[in-house]
Amino acid sequence: MDNWCPHRRGPLGQGWLEGKAVVCPWHSWAFDTTTGEAVPPDRGKVDIYGIKIEGEDVLVNLS
Ligand code: FES
Repeated sequence: MDNWCPHRRGPLGQGWLEGKAVVCPWHSWAFDTTTGEAVPPDRGKVDIYGIKIEGEDVLVNLS
């Protein structure tokens, strides 16, 4: 998932998980980690990326 919140570019990587949603630490907008869509009533979408785990490595598909 992209790090930047579409609301005011808060750092989603410093947020927390609530179920399958990540919550932005600045104003608490939430985004589904499987689709990138905002959890209503919030709005917007975050880019998401596929991952694959190989041993101790996490591979991120950026294409
Ligand atoms: S910057 Fe993320 S909720 Fe406002």
